[in-house]
Amino acid sequence: MRVKAKTLTVLGLETSCDETAASVVRGTPPGPGEILSNVVLGQAEQHRPFGGVVPEIAARAHAELLDGVIARALDEARTTLDDLDAIAATAGPGLIGGVMVGLVSAKALALAAGKPLIAVNHLEAHALSARLSAGTAFPFLLLLISGGHCQLMAAEAVGRYRLYGATIDDAVGEAFDKTAKLIGLSYPGGPEIEKLAKEGNPRRYLLPRPMLGRAEADFSFSGLKTAVRQIVKRPTALQPPDLADLAASFQSAVVDVLTDRVSVAMQQFRTQFGKESDSLNLVAAGGVAANSSIRTALMELCGKEGYRLAMPPQPLCTDNGAMVAWAGLERLAIGATSALNSAPRARWPLEDLADSGEMLFSRPKVPAG
Ligand code: KG4
Ligand code: ZN
Repeated sequence: MRVKAKTLTVLGLETSCDETAASVVRGTPPGPGEILSNVVLGQAEQHRPFGGVVPEIAARAHAELLDGVIARALDEARTTLDDLDAIAATAGPGLIGGVMVGLVSAKALALAAGKPLIAVNHLEAHALSARLSAGTAFPFLLLLISGGHCQLMAAEAVGRYRLYGATIDDAVGEAFDKTAKLIGLSYPGGPEIEKLAKEGNPRRYLLPRPMLGRAEADFSFSGLKTAVRQIVKRPTALQPPDLADLAASFQSAVVDVLTDRVSVAMQQFRTQFGKESDSLNLVAAGGVAANSSIRTALMELCGKEGYRLAMPPQPLCTDNGAMVAWAGLERLAIGATSALNSAPRARWPLEDLADSGEMLFSRPKVPAG
């Protein structure tokens, strides 16, 4: 007789960038899970005058807001600390001041309530968000596109990821944000560019498509941003219709680069896992996966390549506590709890993850041909 896995309830805290977030999630791996509450307080207003996130302001805001956000998340979920099976928090990578606020709060709650602590890697939280929303089975190909990260990897199990490619310079969200600043849009730039691009002609400006056609699945975006800067710096000032055309041309270049890089990783994933999986799955996660042009292009690519696309709904793509709670829940289910002295990490690079024993990342050899 198959024993039914226990349903777990976990509180997750997210404070690694400029969203103060807490959520209660209930479920059993592989998902989907039930989101009982998902409270996200953005700080974009406070950072907007500076054109980007100011770490000191972010850390202070998290310290002021987090208590209230946690209380609301528990309240909306009609849950008390006693009802929880564990308390999870992002322990990195991210802005260290904010990460410390979230992790230390989770430690205090865990200690006070006598519940296990789970120190979650923010990238793993994004990676597993499609299991929370759709119960996607391992292995899957993961495109992680956010403000700080741009990676293609195979997710084989909780804690086991193989890197196919990553950006060699800017993350794609960073390219959106910097380009937005260049053309006079406010922070965060991704949604602003998407809005403006709807009014523009994507073929007006011929922008570079860095890395297109390369055999490895790496990315580069700094050349694209430089090309936009050169256009903006021309002696005749750009008028609003020109800016819309530039936004549309930039977004279309990003779409071309992403789909080309993903198609390379799809071949590698098919070679590695095609025989052992019933279906080939692509998961797109991270803030930039909220972009509808990118979503549409990935859908078309998956149709062509015989992949099934799983994309968490837009509120689960940008930073949130539910994905952290779910990653904590998946770790709890395999007994991977954390010590109360777990350290916050500004960087949690792939090499260190493999060494730490908490996450296993490795880069496979690209098959020849
Ligand atoms: O995952 P996320 O919320 O935070 C990080 O972990 O980085 O991603 C934030 C990034 C920002 O760069 C933001 O401009 C971008 O995601 N973003 C978008 C869109 N919504 C958010 N980029 C393009 N189109 C969007 N609709
Ligand atoms: Zn993120």
